[in-house]
Amino acid sequence: MNGPSPADSALVQAVLPLAGGDTDLRIGVLASGRGSNLRVLLDRCADGSLPARVVAVACNHSDAPALAIAAEYGIPYRAVPRAGHPTRLDQQHTLADFLDGADAQLIVCAGFDRVLEPPICDRWSGRLINLHPSLLPAFAGGLHAIADALAYGVRVTGVTVHFVTPAVDAGPIILQEAVPVAPDDTLDSLRARIQAVEHRLLTEAVALYAANRLLIEGARVIIQP
Ligand code: GRF
Repeated sequence: MNGPSPADSALVQAVLPLAGGDTDLRIGVLASGRGSNLRVLLDRCADGSLPARVVAVACNHSDAPALAIAAEYGIPYRAVPRAGHPTRLDQQHTLADFLDGADAQLIVCAGFDRVLEPPICDRWSGRLINLHPSLLPAFAGGLHAIADALAYGVRVTGVTVHFVTPAVDAGPIILQEAVPVAPDDTLDSLRARIQAVEHRLLTEAVALYAANRLLIEGARVIIQP
């Protein structure tokens, strides 16, 4: 009897070879700020350690330094500020249209500072990932997870890379890593250690996705050997 295979129930889409023999994963990036994670992705693509290519960068702020990084690397980019759009959803569809127009397969939120509206999450279901500077579900839902962890007095915080669903910061977790909080940590010192972990974990998660090794089963992500 033929039952459904695990792959049938997976939300993750296979990375299909592209026309012209181009098998690199095409990444679209949503960013809002400094863009250090964007730069790491660009560098890992350029040095060949990621079989991927950043094909477009979209920002929701016109002055985001991430835009200058995209320009520096010659990547198509676009700023889509909230002004001029009747609703936040309209703005986000414009951002999404730009990335889809570049045929992005995987969308990476690399420091995107707004909650994505449910229709946007659904539009990219199973191919939209985010990184969050805490061990989710701790310190979910805010923009200040590092400061919040410090203020709470936790001994351990960390980094999470997860698929994005309409449930804010609650999508299936791909990778997590703990970062101990030192007694004399400041916001800057803790942020520096967390960002170093982010840069490595995001690269690892994208590599797993590019290798088609991620399956979403219910709330969990199975990493296939
Ligand atoms: C990261 O700490 C990320 O976890 C959070 O925003 C920050 C973005 O950093 N969502 P950068 O712009 O990539 O340097």
